[in-house]
Amino acid sequence: MTSSSAPGKIILFGEHAVVYGYPALAVPVTQVQVTATVSKNSRRGMIIEAPNINLTSELASLAPEHPLSVVVHGVYSALKVTHTPACTLYIQSTIPVASGLGSGAAVSVAVIRALSEFLGHPFTNEQVNKLAFEAEKIYHGTPSGIDNTVITFSRPVYFVKKKPIKTFHVGEPFTIMIASTGIPAPTKESVEAVRMLWQENKPHWEKVFTRVGEIVWNARQAIERGDIAELGRLMDANHALLQSMKVSSVELDHLVTAARTAGAQGAKLSGGGRGGNMIALVEKENASEIARALNKAGAKRTIVTEVT
Ligand code: PMV
Repeated sequence: MTSSSAPGKIILFGEHAVVYGYPALAVPVTQVQVTATVSKNSRRGMIIEAPNINLTSELASLAPEHPLSVVVHGVYSALKVTHTPACTLYIQSTIPVASGLGSGAAVSVAVIRALSEFLGHPFTNEQVNKLAFEAEKIYHGTPSGIDNTVITFSRPVYFVKKKPIKTFHVGEPFTIMIASTGIPAPTKESVEAVRMLWQENKPHWEKVFTRVGEIVWNARQAIERGDIAELGRLMDANHALLQSMKVSSVELDHLVTAARTAGAQGAKLSGGGRGGNMIALVEKENASEIARALNKAGAKRTIVTEVT
């Protein structure tokens, strides 16, 4: 039997613009995770059990474009496996689906690792990342690759599409509160909506994305020198630009305002938007007060994570 876990993730800065080649910052969230276990069974082929998404199926019965099918066949084809071994793939997750915490990428990463190890050839991070990206295309349409990268390497990343992974130094640990609107929002749709805006007026949106890129770069510098106050201001500025891309929502804006009013140093939506999560930069001492304010403002769940 082999088993592997992968964390969730949040995008701190730069979502959406990252799809167009601008940088973004993302960090792993280890408070939530996916665990994939592969064990031998006495039947034929692979059985997949994923209780969190109510799935019990033979691999052979899944549609070929199902992300799990893509991932498993990706591993088989990379290892030139011709006879599907008799095994059960069990997937357990504490990452809410379609909420900006990277559940799809975490499933892919955990499955690729557990399965390649089960087959006697554990993949390198680079191999895992490459295969997980293929499944991301199904979840996201035209993904930047940021989710699979930060989850595979499980480290803070300064990400630029199609460029080698760069991690960065955290000068002073800081605390992020993640609050969920409870509204599932498929990233694919918000990415497509931004693409339509961009196609209507490329010069304007390239300017907006350039501004996002500057924020990301400044945020990286602020994180490296431990300038938390500046980081908060930059989160606010990034949120305003995301609002202009029309990927925020009444609920997200409401939580962002509630967090700021309760004393957060900055707040913004995180990920695809239109639902999903917002994040707030908080001081540890007032984290519970801000969590209370967010719950009162309608948050369905809050998670506190330390970026170190
Ligand atoms: O919704 P999430 O957290 O998976 O984030 C997607 C981030 C986008 O920039 C909107 C899309 C992408 O592929 O980078």
